[in-house]
Amino acid sequence: DARLTEAEILADPVAKIAAVGGARHPSIPLPIDLFRPGHRNSGGIDLSDISTLERTRSAVNVPVARETGDTQAADVKAAVSRAQAAFGEWSKRPVAERAAILERLADLLEEERDRLMAILVQEAFKTIPDAIGEVREAADFCRYYAGEARARLQPVELPGPTGERNTLHMDGRGVWATVAPWNFPLAIFLGQTVAALVTGNTVVAKPAPQTPEIARAAVALAHRAGVPADALVLVTGGPEVGQALTEDARVMGVAFTGSTATAKRIARTLVADDDRPIVPLIAETGGINAMIVDSTALPEQVVADVVTSSFRSAGQRCSALRLLLVQEEVADGVIAMLTGAMETLKLGPTGDPATDVGPVIDRAAYDKLMAYRQQAGARVIKTLDAPADGLFVPPTLVRLDRIEDLDREWFGPILHVATWAAGTLSETIARVNAKGYGLTMGLHSRIARAVEVAEAEAEVGNLYVNRSMIGAVVGSQPFGGEGLSGTGPKAGGPHYLYRFCAERAVSVDT
Ligand code: NAD
Ligand code: ALA
Repeated sequence: DARLTEAEILADPVAKIAAVGGARHPSIPLPIDLFRPGHRNSGGIDLSDISTLERTRSAVNVPVARETGDTQAADVKAAVSRAQAAFGEWSKRPVAERAAILERLADLLEEERDRLMAILVQEAFKTIPDAIGEVREAADFCRYYAGEARARLQPVELPGPTGERNTLHMDGRGVWATVAPWNFPLAIFLGQTVAALVTGNTVVAKPAPQTPEIARAAVALAHRAGVPADALVLVTGGPEVGQALTEDARVMGVAFTGSTATAKRIARTLVADDDRPIVPLIAETGGINAMIVDSTALPEQVVADVVTSSFRSAGQRCSALRLLLVQEEVADGVIAMLTGAMETLKLGPTGDPATDVGPVIDRAAYDKLMAYRQQAGARVIKTLDAPADGLFVPPTLVRLDRIEDLDREWFGPILHVATWAAGTLSETIARVNAKGYGLTMGLHSRIARAVEVAEAEAEVGNLYVNRSMIGAVVGSQPFGGEGLSGTGPKAGGPHYLYRFCAERAVSVDT
């Protein structure tokens, strides 16, 4: 049992190491390490197989053609009309038939894995391991929601105390708009789209303007799998296309993933027209995610998890660690080890299997992050050299005097560190909660009571104890935040599909 008291651990460092290497807190599932030998994804691909990476290296570097031309805002209405016309037929199909189409789509994603990875590497600057993980996650969403739909969307008979027959139906609502970010341009784009489809809705899907090609590829595969062309219509372009789509009063729900500012904008759009139906908004946004480390944590494990959580994917994950909070007594040691570990990170092109950190998504993101790094000045504890050409933001560690000094999400490989005093765990959690975001939080501690306190007091959608804070696994770690981080539905969780449904109760007096 890893739940040792602080006194026990301090008295016996060997027990501490055994605790780390052995069982963890029993209520926290072990992380699934994508690269653990023998770990296979739902399609049976061994993700640890280094020859897969080497083979993939040549595949991902085959140049990908880019189409030009986006949907004009004026054409968005036509897209909604098509999806609206397709709703009647699609929504009446048996759930099992829609679920089978999602499973065919998962098969196609796996068959087309190399081509999809090539687009992800070249268009979204995904590293090869991240591209593998993303195709896997997209396929997992399809299979998971197919299974959930079969299990949860059948009509349910409810008690009829006075002899009546009561039935609860889960129906589609109509046309959904799905609006996606560039940082998971396949998994999130497709995940929210197939959730809307399998529940009987039709969809107008809008990817981020930085990543239209992977969306085109995904939609083409969905059509090949059996989704009717008009049940899933793609529109491409930037904010003006998203605005035109969410303004359309025929849209009966919006599933959005992106920044908090855009989520609020969409929320305002949806209520602006007094005559429009009141429609649901599922919003998944950003976070100022903290990891709290106490003096009982094993520094080697902490450092490995911090590096993964902060710098993998060039820090461009909503779940990424932004604020490391280390107990004062051990801070110097942890920071020294962390700065050493940062030196081992290799920046480079994303098509190279050896690359740990690739470029950031575009010039605007690069300029913003580099200006912030510059402004941090003497507070920068550690940074790296970056290749001269390319949008490489070097992993950077910035010291903060106070937890409150970080008040916005910096969406890149910039980690902040501050300290906290022994005996103030609750207060420290409260200070993080007070930022108003609530996406991920991490805790590294071998003290059972500390884990209980974090479980009870952390106001976040996803709490990670004694592990990294990224890479939520579909079906095991339902993902999504609260407060400024989102409206709460958990992608990859058992209740997600309900959010896309109209629940209709029918009562028949017999
Ligand atoms: P963004 O908000 O700029 O854009 C997201 C999408 O919204 C894009 O498709 C964009 O074109 C569209 N959009 C912009 N203005 C719009 C409007 N007025 N109406 C309708 N649509 C509009 O975000 P981004 O830069 O693409 O993505 C990064 C952000 O996403 C980060 O804040 C990150 O934390 C967040 N994110 C959250 C999650 C999560 O699950 N919580 C996952 C990934 C990314
Ligand atoms: N679901 C993604 C993660 O957990 C964002 O890292």
